[in-house]
Amino acid sequence: MLILLGPPGAGKGTQAQLLMSRYGLVQLSTGDMLRAAVKVGSEIGRKADAIMKAGQLVPDEVVTQLIANRLDFEAHAPGFIFDGYPRTQAQAESLDALLAERGLKLQHVIELAVDEDALVERISGRFTCAKCNEGYHDVFKLPKVAGVCDVCHSTEFRRRPDDNEETVRARLAEYRAKTAPILPYYEAKGLVARVDGMADINTVAAAIEAVLADSPAARMV
Ligand code: AP5
Ligand code: MG
Repeated sequence: MLILLGPPGAGKGTQAQLLMSRYGLVQLSTGDMLRAAVKVGSEIGRKADAIMKAGQLVPDEVVTQLIANRLDFEAHAPGFIFDGYPRTQAQAESLDALLAERGLKLQHVIELAVDEDALVERISGRFTCAKCNEGYHDVFKLPKVAGVCDVCHSTEFRRRPDDNEETVRARLAEYRAKTAPILPYYEAKGLVARVDGMADINTVAAAIEAVLADSPAARMV
């Protein structure tokens, strides 16, 4: 049970996918859940769409309800990777309550430390497979065969509407104002491990695996 915490473009989604395939953990990304809601045009999606395009945070109770639903739906999962949740102090406290109600325990908060200047480049080069959602980058992670997804062989890809420079700057400001301040809450619980998110993708993955392997919690994931 771990949280990946870091600003937009830090590599949360990339590392969550690697951890899923390595440990069989289930990735819970509130960003992915909200984008799915926008795509199907549900009530949550209609409300979230404009907020996400502006780079602001969706209300706490909306995302907490999404997480609660998924925890119940995936009740038999071997463990969870929280990607992009919690993002506020209220969400952090709600997550504690949701986990306690289900007899689950948080073991790690991995902070992906990155240089903000690199993030705009990372985000503007990002694209994903339209079918299986595998993540790619124009420079750092191209498909092995040009134009074909490595995982599902689809030839359709997409880019996120909030991945433009102006919105990325707003998302970074939200991170600084509301999300970074929750780190001390987890530091006080002794859960935070800081990993250099500026290294290449495989080096970051190895550093995260070292954190997981270096604690008794590793045997539980
Ligand atoms: P969300 O989808 O969570 O976006 P985010 O936090 O802004 O983070 P990103 O997904 O942009 O970055 P990432 O860290 O996953 O990086 P990635 O691995 O893709 O949220 C979107 C919006 O939804 C929010 O703005 C908000 O409106 C709403 N929302 C979501 N959750 C919410 C919540 N809890 N509360 C309220 N509102 C919420 O990597 C980026 C790129 O870099 C990729 O192309 C990748 O290939 C590349 N890359 C990754 N690692 C490396 C590396 N080490 N070196 C080089 N390139 C790399
Ligand atoms: Mg992401």
